[in-house]
Amino acid sequence: MKIWKNNMRKIASENIDMDRIPKHIAIIMDGNGRWAKQQGMPRTMGHRAGVEALRNIVRFSSNLGVKYLTVYAFSTENWRRPQSEIGILMSLLKEYVRKELDELNANNVKIRILGDIYQLPKDVLESILFACQKTKDNTGLIFNLALNYGGRAELIMAIKKIINDVQNNYLETEEINENLFDSYLYTAGCPEPELLIRTSGEMRLSNFLLWQVAYSEIVVVKECWPDFNEKSLHDAIRTYQNRERRFGGIKKVEE
Ligand code: FPP
Repeated sequence: MKIWKNNMRKIASENIDMDRIPKHIAIIMDGNGRWAKQQGMPRTMGHRAGVEALRNIVRFSSNLGVKYLTVYAFSTENWRRPQSEIGILMSLLKEYVRKELDELNANNVKIRILGDIYQLPKDVLESILFACQKTKDNTGLIFNLALNYGGRAELIMAIKKIINDVQNNYLETEEINENLFDSYLYTAGCPEPELLIRTSGEMRLSNFLLWQVAYSEIVVVKECWPDFNEKSLHDAIRTYQNRERRFGGIKKVEE
């Protein structure tokens, strides 16, 4: 089993402040199809290469000390793709879990799922539930896989649960505030992402973490997801570290 090693010298040379690594990084992994087209390959190959990029980014994130990594693997809108492509994505997902689970587990990664996974094919669902169960006590990187996830669907799910709890007298309407609302989302217990990365240059949220990214720094990079590598991650973190986060306030010097 491969245990991931940290190369601090390399990280230092990338000029990243290790004391200000985002606790939570969210990623919209876009551009697999375009990457494949650029290489003259079928879209499937783009998704395969995308899985490879994901494997690496999980390792690099863990080595950097990122506590939460959330990736958009399959959206509620992705069901609109041709059946053949959906089938490939599902089998890649199952293969990923089968091949990576032991290594993720050995490296203390905890797998969590965001989304309505009960709509997924039974074999995929079972392998995912098994992976979550197996890694549930791990204390390292929390790896949130957004699967059959949509930000709007998540908000509606949370609202329905809250209404249900109010109707059953588990909750008073007056108790509803932002913290409580947070606890009804798939991401309950995770801090908001400080950094949201989107690959392949598109400037859209595409229904990802609509509530949670209210104050996230968004870094859009040109490269397609299969080309997103360790250096790209370091660059995105450096860009984030050079931003000034004000959360609706004003600059320190203006105070
Ligand atoms: C976007 O590329 C990517 C996705 C639809 C989902 C991300 C999927 C992977 C990284 C591979 C599968 C993941 C797992 C965990 C097995 P696109 O097809 O939208 O690219 P395009 O916009 O260039 O067409």
